[in-house]
Amino acid sequence: MILVTGGAGFIGANFVLDWLAVNDEPVITLDKLTYAGNVENLHSLQNDPRHTLVQGDIGDRDLVAQLLATHQPRAVINFAAESHVDRSIHGPGDFIQTNIVGTFNLLEAVRGYWSGLAATEKAAFRFLHVSTDEVYGSLAKDDPAFTESNHIEPNSPYSASKAASDHLVRAWHHTYGLPVLTTNCSNNYGPYHFPEKLIPLLIVNSLAGKPLPVYGDGQQIRDWLYVKDHCSAIRRVLEAGRLGETYNVGGWNEKANLEIVHTVCSLLDELRPRADGQPYKEQITYVTDRPGHDRRYAIDARKLESELGWKPAETFETGIRKTVLWYLDNSDWVAHVQSGAYREWVQKQYA
Ligand code: NAD
Ligand code: DAU
Repeated sequence: MILVTGGAGFIGANFVLDWLAVNDEPVITLDKLTYAGNVENLHSLQNDPRHTLVQGDIGDRDLVAQLLATHQPRAVINFAAESHVDRSIHGPGDFIQTNIVGTFNLLEAVRGYWSGLAATEKAAFRFLHVSTDEVYGSLAKDDPAFTESNHIEPNSPYSASKAASDHLVRAWHHTYGLPVLTTNCSNNYGPYHFPEKLIPLLIVNSLAGKPLPVYGDGQQIRDWLYVKDHCSAIRRVLEAGRLGETYNVGGWNEKANLEIVHTVCSLLDELRPRADGQPYKEQITYVTDRPGHDRRYAIDARKLESELGWKPAETFETGIRKTVLWYLDNSDWVAHVQSGAYREWVQKQYA
């Protein structure tokens, strides 16, 4: 079996659902269930004997050690993190605690478990750390896309904390021989994406008749990948990645934020037109820019493509249509995640 941390969040939940859809190897999900963790994301596995959800913190070394000893996983995949850049600007403490201290404690618990395995299990064991392209910093308009050998130049408390965790993972390999793999992925989108992030926020605000907040001039560029393609990349790296290596994950889909906003508006105009017949783009509102806002990210995924033969299944056009349709079909999920805590965040960030 495998242990997945942060498996009740956006990407982790997609990973667990896809994992159990493509094979029968059981999964233990360890998740603190912060505001971003949602048991509803895993609802379809409620009575599935192949899945166990444990509420807990990756920083709780005793709990992790006990889980590892009891279930004897052959791999740990670490998605658990504080993940929202804007929240890291308002309050970096949780990011330092989970992303850095939490990863340290997780690594130590895993190292203790792995050290005690018999030779065959020890050789087969993997610790896969899920990270981000944001650790590389920001690109100018004509810079080449990030490769795995780019300098690490994080600019936000979030990306700095992720970079620190990547360094810890690397050091645990070089110093202790822990069999690690790291993936650095670009912006994901798709089902179960919490509506504090750009794409789901645009969808839920459009439908609610609320403003569509564009930071600054809206010309910042992100490189978008459908979440299920990120999950297939992680499965492939887990299966065949070289130990101690990092693999960039991305779909060669650079888009300016304003283009994303217009695409979502056009899809909603087609699929769920406004009652008054006006286009959703009327709701676009330019707001104060994010402090230290990175201008451009772009991922060069050639190492993953050539070494491991991975390719994304979705184009941006097919993925964004699926995503908008998912939100239209899952209005209960959307209503449930927009709890009091969510409304407080929206008030704090956009007031
Ligand atoms: P998310 O915020 O949706 O989910 C994070 C999950 O981790 C939640 O379920 C939360 O409850 C859990 N968690 C938080 N602190 C924890 C702790 N101390 N112990 C155990 N569980 C804890 O994030 P996401 O977008 O699904 O991102 C998952 C991972 O992928 C993160 O490490 C993130 O840095 C990375 N990543 C995200 C993107 C993206 O576009 N969303 C892109 C590249 C990499
Ligand atoms: O690049 C990978 C990263 O992508 C992940 O590591 C992070 O966990 C994930 O949150 C995401 O970070 P971003 O900051 O790029 O994503 P976000 O959806 O917050 O913002 C995308 C872009 O849209 C960014 O340039 C900021 C802008 N934006 C965002 C929000 C929430 C707006 O213009 N308005 C908004 O209201």
